[in-house]
This record gives sequence, C-alpha cells and structure tokens, in this order.
Amino acid sequence: MKILITGGNGQLGQELQHLFQERQVAFKAADVSELDITKEQQVNQFFAEHRPEVVYHCAAYTAVDKAEGEGKAADELINAVGTEIVAKACQKYGATLVYVSTDYVFDGTRTSGEYLPEDPKGPRNEYGRTKLLGEQAVQKYCQKYYIVRTAWVYGQWGHNFVYTMLNLAKTHDKLTVVDDQVGRPTWTRTLAEFLTYLVDNQIAYGVYQCSNDGQCSWYEFAKEILKDQPVKVLPVSSDQYPSAAFRPHYSVMHLAKETGFKFPKWEDALYEFMRQIKEK
Ligand SMILES: NC(=O)c1ccc[n+]([C@@H]2O[C@H](COP(=O)([O-])OP(=O)(O)OC[C@H]3O[C@@H](n4cnc5c(N)ncnc54)[C@H](OP(=O)(O)O)[C@@H]3O)[C@@H](O)[C@H]2O)c1
Repeated sequence: MKILITGGNGQLGQELQHLFQERQVAFKAADVSELDITKEQQVNQFFAEHRPEVVYHCAAYTAVDKAEGEGKAADELINAVGTEIVAKACQKYGATLVYVSTDYVFDGTRTSGEYLPEDPKGPRNEYGRTKLLGEQAVQKYCQKYYIVRTAWVYGQWGHNFVYTMLNLAKTHDKLTVVDDQVGRPTWTRTLAEFLTYLVDNQIAYGVYQCSNDGQCSWYEFAKEILKDQPVKVLPVSSDQYPSAAFRPHYSVMHLAKETGFKFPKWEDALYEFMRQIKEK
C-alpha cells in the first residue's frame, strides 16, 4: 500500500511518520514546500508521480483566531479549496482519502450528551466553517474516504496546550485556566493509531470521531498536566480570556467505539505522553 501524508511536518503528520517508522511501513510525507495542496497542477503532478493508494490528509490551516481576520483568505484557501483539490486527485488516482476534521463543525451549544457524527452542523467560527467545507468537498468529489473529526489535539511534535501549560509553570506560581469549556483531549498517538486502524482493518468508509475517552474542562486538563508541579491552578470563566474566534462551551463528540478500536482514557493518554517526553 503506497501511503502519502500531506502536511507531513505538522503535529499529526509527524506522529504518523513516527508510527509508520516504528511499524516499518513505507510512506511518503510531504509538506508545503514539496506539495502545496492549494496548487492543483502541482498536486496532480505529485499524484501522477507517486501514485498514492492511501492519503492521510493532515495539511491544514490551524490558526483558529487568525482565521477570523488576517488569515481568513488563507484559511479558506487551504482548508476548503486545498481539500477539494486533494479530494479530486484521490478520486482521479483511486486513492483512499483520510481527512481530519474538527469538533468546531458543530455549534457547541449542547450542555450534555455527545455529538453524533450525523448531528446538525453549525460552525460558529471561520475555521469550523472552512473545515466543514472541506468535509463537504471530500464527500462530493471522492468515493473512498474517511472523515475523522477530532478535538483538543496535543502531541510531541508541535505547539499545543500541554506544552503551553508546562512552559508557563516554569515562570509562574499561579495559573488561571477556563473552566466553562468542556471537551475531550486527543493525543496525536491515539489519533494516528485510529486513522491507520480504519484503513488497515478496512472499516466501512464514512464519518468517524476520535478523541481520548472521558471528558474535562481546560481547567481540569491543566490540573492533571501540572499535578506534579509546584504551581497553583485556578478556574476562571471564558469571559476572562476573550478570543477572536468563538469557542464552544461543550464539544464532547461520540467516539467510534463500534469500530472495535479501544480509545484510551484522556488521563491515561496524558500520563503516557508525559512519560515519553520526560524520557526524551
Ligand atoms: N490541533 C488541534 O487541536 C486540532 C483540532 C481538531 C482538528 N484538527 C485537525 O487535525 C489535522 C492536523 O492538525 P495539526 O494539529 O497536526 O496541525 P498543524 O500542526 O498546524 O499541521 C498542519 C500542517 O499543514 C501544513 N500546511 C499548511 N498549509 C499547507 C499547504 N498549502 N499545503 C501543504 N501543507 C500545508 C503546515 O505547514 P506550515 O506549518 O509550514 O504552515 C503544517 O505542517 C488538521 O486537519 C486540523 O484541522 C486539529
């Protein structure tokens, strides 16, 4: 199976590379310098040359707040137009497309329960809107696809909430973290294992959701990250941290347990992640 990873130098792209290396599976990872997904001719040439059979499409515009202003055009170009280009190329060359999407496609107004994959969509920020356009392009132009929504992603290779908390704890003795946004953290390792599980086990094409199991607020997440650090973590409301992009108060998504995949609990995943970065 010829594997291509788009956005290969991103947080998830690097985790997938690491996973394939560990499994001794051959792959081709390309980042924007080699494969700019917004350039249709370049994408087609690349597909003609490499003939991928499975495409893990990790390239994305992920600056959620910037997407509300100076990054609006880039966000739409990369997440919507770029994904359409990749979807059409996958269809043309018969490749299976694995597209990673977000909980922000939902409106985030629930207060309990879980968002099911088929629940009504209602993105309330630009990034969510363009990732949903990407989902629609995948469904319109490509027959063999997995759309996998995820949320609150952290991993070894990238900027994320866990690293931010660990760094802040080095210079502060007290941190305030929002307690009125609830979701499910996702370790990139769990996500990478799930994406490859879908492909390797020939699970039915369609829309799935992947995070670590359980749920927490950002405050509870921060407390767990910093439980061994001499720093006080205090809960605050989102009003204390205004942001350009709307953030949902509740974004717990139903996990695709029916596939047989075991989603580790978020505390266990975090523990393992912290153990690994300490060993580095
Ligand atoms: N991070 C989260 O919390 C989160 C939550 C939900 C869903 N997701 C989704 O999960 C996927 C992976 O996210 P991530 O955290 O790994 O993001 P990331 O670290 O920002 O990686 C995205 C990668 O895409 C590359 N890229 C940007 N424009 C490109 C273009 N035109 N052509 C090719 N590559 C391009 C970026 O390169 P440069 O850095 O050089 O621009 C970067 O290497 C994305 O689809 C994202 O929308 C992420």
